[in-house]
Amino acid sequence: MASFRPHSIHDINLTETPDMKTRITELFGIQHPIIQGGMHYVGFAEMAAAVSNAGGLGIITGLTQRTPELLAKEIARCRQMTSKPFGVNLTFLPALTPPDYPGYIKAIVEGGVKIVETAGNNPQKWMPLLKENGIKVIHKCTSVRHSLKAEQIGCDAVSVDGFECGGHPGEDDIPNMILLPRAADELKIPFVASGGMADGRSLVASLAMGADGINMGTRFIATKEAPVHENVKKAIVAASELDTRLVMRPLRNTERVLKNAAVERLLEKEKALGPKLQFQDIIEEVAGVYPKIMTDGDMEAGAWSCGMVVGLINDIPTCKELIDRIMKQAEDIISNRLQRFL
Ligand SMILES: Cc1cc2nc3c(=O)[nH]c(=O)nc-3n(C[C@H](O)[C@H](O)[C@H](O)COP(=O)(O)O)c2cc1C
Repeated sequence: MASFRPHSIHDINLTETPDMKTRITELFGIQHPIIQGGMHYVGFAEMAAAVSNAGGLGIITGLTQRTPELLAKEIARCRQMTSKPFGVNLTFLPALTPPDYPGYIKAIVEGGVKIVETAGNNPQKWMPLLKENGIKVIHKCTSVRHSLKAEQIGCDAVSVDGFECGGHPGEDDIPNMILLPRAADELKIPFVASGGMADGRSLVASLAMGADGINMGTRFIATKEAPVHENVKKAIVAASELDTRLVMRPLRNTERVLKNAAVERLLEKEKALGPKLQFQDIIEEVAGVYPKIMTDGDMEAGAWSCGMVVGLINDIPTCKELIDRIMKQAEDIISNRLQRFL
């Protein structure tokens, strides 16, 4: 019997990056079942192109572009950087004056983008327009019931986002060890596991629980090509799994963020005001902070989304190095470690 080998990411020595066919690689026409989720002020053309060029699916964050015209330009820029498929994220948020969603969809259609990642509210209203234009839709959900709804309204796939995830985990607090097998038991359409994904171990575990791939947010920020300030990447590498906090729970808009002085202040306000808390009370800590953090590198400027997976991130590779490493580690685990138990 082969001797036991610890499966650290530094312990892999395969020369070729293996291909892996799943329902997700087939659906989106990509080489590896790895998606980069939309991320505000991170998902620019540089990020999406780097992930797609590495064989995954890169995603431009639609609403980071302030107007549909700017999104059209960003899509055109991404086309210059990659000939591979990439997608656009459309996040549907409750807003007094909603963004010009028809305009954004027009930019997507005219830009020839064939994949949209929807998130936030139910995308039902926009499905006919997306489907008429031959766009494949992957909806990000934090519960089995929302995943089933997505399937019912005609989404092609879902991204099942567990409690670990960076950003908005919803209000159910179900971690992926439970959520993924539950989703597998109920869904017919393919899904990717999202939240807490970092390496080949994450990919193999997700496949074992019924997913057809993984979606990563936080891990992709700590890459060479991520178009964010170096301070953000350093903060991710320095943080441990104990360093995220949940904010805005009293507003039923829970967000997982990296702790900093602004987050501590925000949590103090939540504690002091209890159920009386209003969005206005915390506006300073949450509104308009992304450019300050991501572009200027002012790490105390406010609350920014970040997953518990920071505890597993210790370096800043290129997207290709990261994706190749995940695929090689996954193959190594499947063909060596797991075979041994049979
Ligand atoms: C900085 C940051 C910004 C994000 N912004 C968005 C967004 O605008 N829209 C969206 O649908 N998801 C957003 N997300 C969520 C990611 O797409 C993804 O679902 C999540 O990061 C997965 O969890 P992980 O960070 O543990 O990989 C964001 C995540 C991060 C870390």
